[in-house]
Order: sequence, then C-alpha cells, then structure tokens
Amino acid sequence: MRRKRVIGNWKMNGSLAANRALLEELLPQLAVLEGVELAVCPPFPYLAQVAARLEGSGVALGAQNLNVADKGAFTGEVGAGMLRELGCHYVLVGHSERRSLYGEGDEVVAEKFATALRAGLVPVLCVGETQAQRRQGQTEQVVSAQLQAVLRRSGVQGLAAGLIAYEPVWAIGTGETASPEQAQAVHRHIRALLAQHDPVQAEAMPILYGGSVKADNAAALFAQPDIDGGLIGGASLEAAAFAAICQAA
Ligand code: G3P
Repeated sequence: MRRKRVIGNWKMNGSLAANRALLEELLPQLAVLEGVELAVCPPFPYLAQVAARLEGSGVALGAQNLNVADKGAFTGEVGAGMLRELGCHYVLVGHSERRSLYGEGDEVVAEKFATALRAGLVPVLCVGETQAQRRQGQTEQVVSAQLQAVLRRSGVQGLAAGLIAYEPVWAIGTGETASPEQAQAVHRHIRALLAQHDPVQAEAMPILYGGSVKADNAAALFAQPDIDGGLIGGASLEAAAFAAICQAA
C-alpha cells in the first residue's frame, strides 16, 4: 500500500515574516495528521529559515530545483550537496515552469534527476502535457517521453528512488483542475509504462497529482487508485487550505 504524500511548492513566493506566520499557523494543524508524508519546498533563500522551523515537526524540506553539476563556475546556481547540507530531503526536477520558462528539456531533466540521486536527495520528477498536446491526443506520448529520458539515464531502479508528479500544464495555476478520471487515466498510463520495466517497482511508485488542487477537490483526486497524493502550488501558501488538502490525503 503506497503512503499518501503531499508536497507544497511555494514557487517564487514568501518572505521571512510571511514564512514565519504561515508555518506558525500551519504546523500545529499538520502535527495531528498521521499516515501521510508531508513536505514544503520554499525558494532557495528561505531553506535555512524553514529547515529550522520544520525541525521536529515531521514535515520534510524540499527544494524547487538544482544544477546538474555538483559545484563549479555556475554563477547563480545551487548544487545538490548544498541542498542536502541545508536539510533538504526532496528536490523538484523538471517542473513545467523550468521546462517552459528556462528551456529545460527531457535530457537536462534526466541529468538533474541523476544528480539529485547521487547527492542522496529524493527527486520529484514533474511530467505533464500542454493544452495543445492534450487536444492533439498526445498526452500519453509526451508523458512517456519525459519518463523514458529518466529511465534511459537512471533506470527503473533509479526512478523508483524518486517520486513522480503528473502536472498537466493546462491545470497549473489556472483553477482548471484535471477531473479525477482524467488524472487517474494518466497515472494509470505512467504506472503501466513503469510496469513494462519492473512490475514490483511500478506498483510501489508514488505518483502525485499537481495542478489546481484545492481543499474542495483534493479528496476526490486522492481517492483515485493511482493518485498517491498531491504537489500543491497556490494553495500551499495558505495554512488552512494546505492543511485541508493534507487532511484529505
Ligand atoms: O508544483 C505544483 C504546481 O505546479 C501546481 O500549482 O497553483 O496549480 O496548485 P497550483
């Protein structure tokens, strides 16, 4: 039985004061939850502050990105070892905003996934199609290609050391959530693709859904057999909303 997981992706939001206020309201509400693995991914500058606040809370820390290299002349970048040193357990890899805004292709994403594994981080591989790709019936083809790049680089054992998050691009930040049935269909496809490599790992693989998950739709999504939790953007910045989503898991 796969444990449910809920990860909050704060994206480029927050401040020292806002983070303090958010966590002060949120953590007591999460402390009473059992059986669900929780994490938050603040922007890089706040990792140390949030790590200190999460100490003993049972909520894990994650980062939103990393460089493919471990260290070196990469001005403005952040290495996997630095994230580990700051207490990160997870790191998002290949988020659609990294793919669309910063040109990260499947091969770069696969390399980042491998770098995260080498550093002892749990990479969360984000996959998903655009509205145009869905309309053209290319959803499964796009998601398969994104997965296969990581399978080629790290193998199914490597992939199984991470998590997968299916985030249809057209549902991110739009309020247009995929229906439980739409999301389940793609999660089932992902699990079936992994099963071609290793049925046991495929069954054990946590696959999260992300894309306008809110307090009022989380339970229906998380009730789907192949949806193992959520990767939450906007709602993770509001304590009551994020706590309600975590309770629904
Ligand atoms: O990584 C999660 C994010 O892309 C989803 O954003 O605001 O639609 O929950 P949102």
